[in-house]
Amino acid sequence: MKVLLTAMLLSVAMPLQAANEQLADVIERGKLVFHAASCAVCHTDKKNNGEPLAGGYALKTDFGTFYSPNITPDVETGIGNWSDDDFIRALQQGVSPEGKHYFPSFPYTAYTKMQRDDVLALKAYLSTLKPVKKTNRQHELPFYMKLVPSAKIWKSQYFKTGELKQETGKSDEWNRGAYLVEAMGHCSACHTQRKGLGVLDQKMAYAGVQKLTGVGTVPNITADKKTGIGRWSIDDLVYYFETGTTLSGDSSGGKMARIIDNSLSQLPASDRKAIAVYLLSLKPVENKIKKKKKKREKEEFE
Ligand code: HEC
Ligand code: HEC
Repeated sequence: MKVLLTAMLLSVAMPLQAANEQLADVIERGKLVFHAASCAVCHTDKKNNGEPLAGGYALKTDFGTFYSPNITPDVETGIGNWSDDDFIRALQQGVSPEGKHYFPSFPYTAYTKMQRDDVLALKAYLSTLKPVKKTNRQHELPFYMKLVPSAKIWKSQYFKTGELKQETGKSDEWNRGAYLVEAMGHCSACHTQRKGLGVLDQKMAYAGVQKLTGVGTVPNITADKKTGIGRWSIDDLVYYFETGTTLSGDSSGGKMARIIDNSLSQLPASDRKAIAVYLLSLKPVENKIKKKKKKREKEEFE
């Protein structure tokens, strides 16, 4: 009898335990995605001591100032009552649960390249975080942006959905690096020059931007030896992603410091290496970006 009871209990407990372990794995995977995609960089208003992911961070762009929304699991002011499909549609199609089109200041142009399972794992992770009650702030946009459904028009012209495809001729490490850089890290959002209307200039992919509104000087990170990072080794890059220390011994500043703190330094070492392998394989583009004034000033005072 006792044996039978134990067996019965076990048969109930085992699948439950297995399910719990599975959920824990999904949440852990979601946490990695959260870091790799640096959601906190924009959704936490660190400058004003805002609560984690409660939004209100001001993104200054050529098209106005966007305020990130609250993405905590708060049911009223956050995304606590969103379904999985709502979340997927927002991140991969740039459409809200009410059918509104988001502006590409929310990098769904990159996140659309993510795998569905990663997006769902991310949602599972976010739902374990603390809900914060904070109402979203309206964007401050010039009148012409409000006259027409500008986000919808932009998307119909320039936005393509779809997951990033694996390149069969390349190593797993390279493909992982490509996924981290192109789909999750949205590195091109800062490191690639834009043509009119905020469209990335693919000929100048990762070749840096002399002056990006709200960010400043963004260096060339193609493998060009003279003007890019062609002289950095894989180890140099991995060290930079972990510590923020550049090849010349400077510590990284500005927005990149936040990407390193929130994202790159939090990843497994193998992911930092994959990013380095991928970056150094990119086509070298010669494009001289003059150093930031801050650095020159620092040099003058030294
Ligand atoms: C570069 C800054 C930036 C990053 C990085 C970013 N977001 Fe956002 N996000 C925004 C902005 C700005 C909006 C508002 C867009 C709009 O209103 O058109 C937004 C909107 C959203 C929304 C819609 C919320 C609502 O109430 O409608 C969700 C959900 C969201 N982001 C989740 C995420 C997640 C998850 C990540 C990480 C994978 C992330 N965001 C990364 C800037 C960012
Ligand atoms: C929000 C804008 C932004 C994003 C997103 C961003 N970067 Fe940067 N990155 C910068 C800025 C600005 C600098 C210069 C930092 C400084 O002056 O200290 C920089 C510097 C770097 C450098 C050092 C180059 C040098 O010559 O010193 C590397 C390498 C780099 N970024 C790689 C990446 C990778 C990989 C990603 C994606 C995972 C990424 N960045 C995402 C803005 C960004």
